[in-house]
Amino acid sequence: MSENPYPNYSPGLQGIIGGVTKISKIVSDTSSLTYRGINVHELAENGSFEETAFLLLHGYLPNSHQLSDFKQRMAAESALPDEVISALGLLPKHMHPMDALKYAYSLLAGFDEDYEAMDHDANVRKGERIVAKGPTVVAAAYRIMNGKEAIAPDPELSIAANFLYMLHGEKADDFTVKVMDASLTLYAEHTFNASAFACRVTVATLSDIYSGIVTGIGTLKGPLHGGANEKAMEMLLEIGDPDNAEEWIRSALAQKKKIMGFGHREYKKRDSRAIYLTKIGKEIGERKGETKWGEIASTLERVMETEKNIHPNVDFPAAYAYYLLGIPIELYTPIFVIARNSGWAAHAIEQLDNNRLIRPTCIYDGAEGVEWKPIDQR
Ligand code: CMC
Repeated sequence: MSENPYPNYSPGLQGIIGGVTKISKIVSDTSSLTYRGINVHELAENGSFEETAFLLLHGYLPNSHQLSDFKQRMAAESALPDEVISALGLLPKHMHPMDALKYAYSLLAGFDEDYEAMDHDANVRKGERIVAKGPTVVAAAYRIMNGKEAIAPDPELSIAANFLYMLHGEKADDFTVKVMDASLTLYAEHTFNASAFACRVTVATLSDIYSGIVTGIGTLKGPLHGGANEKAMEMLLEIGDPDNAEEWIRSALAQKKKIMGFGHREYKKRDSRAIYLTKIGKEIGERKGETKWGEIASTLERVMETEKNIHPNVDFPAAYAYYLLGIPIELYTPIFVIARNSGWAAHAIEQLDNNRLIRPTCIYDGAEGVEWKPIDQR
């Protein structure tokens, strides 16, 4: 990055306070992340993604009745309108599923029964529908774009189990469902990250919550944000064998390459989410008798720490965990969307509850006083 000659400007808005939130908190020194005050590891280990989504959308943990009602609403809202299924069939087959998701959520806005309503309760209802449809949209888009029929959601299954069922056409085992559920919880929310901020910017114009979600999906797609989990797996596949790992990473660092799945703007030590997922990722490898990805990962982690003092972020262990679970690579970032819909919706609701247009200023560094010339004189 080039030198910054402007004392009042922070490139990438690093360290700039972009707003006030009650949704989540990162403490970099202790690598801690809380959602509405609750440690995310407790939610991932002992709770469920449904509880997490309720917590983010409503602001408090549900009791058993509230959770059971929420699960029923999730089941009732999980199916896609036939028109959306048909429309997914029109997309070019080479499109990345993230682009299909932007399209699907744009269409879904028009099918929401609260389409024109903008009050708090309507926004919460929309947020719930957005979360409920996430697994169905991702699985249907993937299957249709690969020439298969979409599978309807099973109302008896959890969000994580339903996604795996609609993707593969058969029910997943309990361990696989637990890993998927925990990863959704860990991916659900992360303060003023680029996509949540972009979502807030969109709704702060008094645009609707679906527009905020579409903005969020487009922002998450990039490899410096959510797209890193797919790129991290591509890197692991390129390395291929634990014996190649040390030479590969040292050579990449010598060439000043960015190592996907490492580094974070907010955590200067470890990404709290990566600590838990690294443990799970390596455990899946042992259970499946395929430990090589965990071994390659350990070498990369060691060299990155000793050479750069940079640690893995959530996207690194998520990549090989999903790979070991047999998830197609181009769905790793869309899975992030299934989870992050809950965080984006919570941010959109919070923004709209106390709104002011988000419109920063800038330093003009271009030409001045340039004379306009008629076109034939240019
Ligand atoms: N590999 C190699 N060097 C790195 C890396 C990395 N992954 N991350 C940071 N650095 C170096 C960077 O080269 C720079 O060095 P120098 O000062 O010598 O030029 C220094 O660390 C600061 O990096 P930066 O890119 O200016 O830091 P940032 O706060 O703007 O960016 C980041 C944070 C996450 C974009 C960056 O660490 C990165 O590009 N990581 C790889 C992509 C990635 O894994 N993204 C997922 C982010 S977390 C989950 C999510 O949001 O999805």
